[in-house]
Amino acid sequence: MEKLIETTNLTYFYRSGTKDQVKALYNVNMNVFQGEILAITGQNGSGKSTLARHFNALLTPGQGEVFVKGLSTVSKENIPEIRKIIGMVFQNPDNQLVSSIVEEDIAFGPENLGLPQPEIIERVNWALHTLGLEELRNEPPHNLSEGQKQQVAIAGVLAMKPECIVLDEPTAHLDPRGRRELLESAIHLNREEGITIVLLTHFMNEVIHCDRMIVMENGSVKMEGPPGSIFCRSKEVKKTGLDFPIAAQIGDGLRREGFDIKPGIIHTEDLIASLCQLKS
Ligand SMILES: Nc1ncnc2c1ncn2[C@@H]1O[C@H](COP(=O)(O)OP(=O)(O)OP(=O)(O)O)[C@@H](O)[C@H]1O
Ligand SMILES: [Mg+2]
Repeated sequence: MEKLIETTNLTYFYRSGTKDQVKALYNVNMNVFQGEILAITGQNGSGKSTLARHFNALLTPGQGEVFVKGLSTVSKENIPEIRKIIGMVFQNPDNQLVSSIVEEDIAFGPENLGLPQPEIIERVNWALHTLGLEELRNEPPHNLSEGQKQQVAIAGVLAMKPECIVLDEPTAHLDPRGRRELLESAIHLNREEGITIVLLTHFMNEVIHCDRMIVMENGSVKMEGPPGSIFCRSKEVKKTGLDFPIAAQIGDGLRREGFDIKPGIIHTEDLIASLCQLKS
């Protein structure tokens, strides 16, 4: 698979060179592949956001390099192109919504790209349609639920037609329904629109829907692989302080009780199928 983002020996210190410098990333080598949904997880302070901010050059490496489609974020002249390729959505949508009406908000990015008006209108319509937000078109953002605001923030990024959208804990402030709908939108953008998704999250029920996951610990990549194989390595996962998906927890419990359930089951449906087989 083609690399969309590559970090090589990426190291980053906040307040570098001062007596209270913070080592936020250390020697990170990781890739984001074109077309995948990648989850980045890990405990608070493990470096997820710092890593994600390197993907679109909001931060530039202390040491090492970050390449987006081969363009290094260290070269200033690459930054406009990199920011066209990678869109970012943050935890708090209020910081990303700038206009008094939803459609104006979504038009903001394309306007800044200097696109002609008909294309802006087309992109706004497309983004609203793709995320199923047409009804909200004329609403003021402050009337919306947190989940709807976050969807509008994503639509704003989508209207810039990025190849990759990085979502930094987009569901942290949402209720369960908002969280579910947001995850569905991310999956939809990936499967139907071919957009590469990087999802930073604490929620294992989101991680299990991703193609691959990275577990960060103390600024380094601790584990990397498809969720099913990561959760087979339960001792290592426990050490990182991560939760287990509910199906993995139940599967482990049953296995300890002597039931013949294979390790690495992370989806509830697979666990049910496996239990049904035992019965027959
Ligand atoms: N602006 C900043 N100035 C100084 N230190 C910072 C800053 N932002 C983050 N840090 C520190 O860098 C380290 C990595 O933080 P980062 O925010 O990347 O982690 P995270 O995994 O995203 O955490 P969370 O789950 O809480 O969002 C932590 O030690 C954090 O305290
Ligand atoms: Mg963070």
